[in-house]
Amino acid sequence: MSTGSTRPVLDVRGLRVEYRGDGRSVVGADDVSFTIGAGEIFGLAGESGCGKSTVANAVMRLLKPPAEITAGSVTFGDRDVLAMDARELRAFRWREIAMVFQSAMNSLNPVLTIGEQIGDVLTTHDKLGKRAARERAAELLALVGIAPDRLKAYPHQLSGGMRQRVVIAMAVALKPTLLIMDEPTTALDVVVQQEIMAQIRELQRALGFSVLFITHDMSLMVELSDRMGVMYGGRLVEVAGAEELFARPLHPYTEALMNAFPPLTGPRRELTGLFDAPRTPDSCGFHAHCPDDRRDCSTRIPDLREITPGRWAALTPAGGTTP
Ligand SMILES: Nc1ncnc2c1ncn2[C@@H]1O[C@H](COP(=O)(O)OP(=O)(O)O)[C@@H](O)[C@H]1O
Ligand SMILES: [Mg+2]
Repeated sequence: MSTGSTRPVLDVRGLRVEYRGDGRSVVGADDVSFTIGAGEIFGLAGESGCGKSTVANAVMRLLKPPAEITAGSVTFGDRDVLAMDARELRAFRWREIAMVFQSAMNSLNPVLTIGEQIGDVLTTHDKLGKRAARERAAELLALVGIAPDRLKAYPHQLSGGMRQRVVIAMAVALKPTLLIMDEPTTALDVVVQQEIMAQIRELQRALGFSVLFITHDMSLMVELSDRMGVMYGGRLVEVAGAEELFARPLHPYTEALMNAFPPLTGPRRELTGLFDAPRTPDSCGFHAHCPDDRRDCSTRIPDLREITPGRWAALTPAGGTTP
């Protein structure tokens, strides 16, 4: 866990991303601030469309027009990520921050073996010789629980779960400081999801990198994350230690999302359809559904503020603000 005394690995401050076109602008992320410490697993949760991928892509500098970062900063160690030029970015991506996408397992090259593809990463970026690359590829596969004889396999000969493990092995091949995983298991069945989550945890312990882990599934998140943030409508509504957040959510939306994804061992409740409310620039879209009617969020969106040490929530003070 980050203590606040050492510099975080990643520091995102007041990030705003707009998608512009046809004279309209959709705000994909707004006023997003969080840090990730060395070796920390930070989870970003929220339903589809809340801005999780927008944040990840901004950090990785993968946003393309019509997306535009219109405010805020992204600092990696002591480096200003938003100021990096193309050459700096080439050296930065994969080596410093690597990313695994939801559909990554389908992006493996069908005509190359697994060994050739992992080897390519190592010979291209790490200037390893062929033999050393082969040995290292076998080590990497072992780290994600795949036997070395699978180096000779082609992607279609592996299950979806195995292919996703291969992609994870490739992502950590250059020993990145931060691994971003955007819904890495969403396309897989529940059992395989669980296995891969356990593998990620093990890998993180072995290699010590930090993780930004993104999912819409709160039950997966709590098993993995040290700290987490919950997004709604492009904004963070709560940031806290994962266990504390689960034990006692401060924001009504966090609670609603938790109820939608109870622990896998617990009873499954139905989605209540709370989450499709429209958002306006100056009211919280969740307001109409919010069970907490003491809070006046129909005329303003509350800022994220520290409620108790280490616990942040976007709440208007209870009572007293309604004219
Ligand atoms: N290329 C795009 N053009 C216009 N709007 C976009 C684009 N990509 C994302 N958005 C909008 O930005 C918001 C956040 O999207 P996204 O970051 O993909 O959410 P999530 O990853 O949480 O599902 C959504 O309202 C989405 O419609
Ligand atoms: Mg997404």
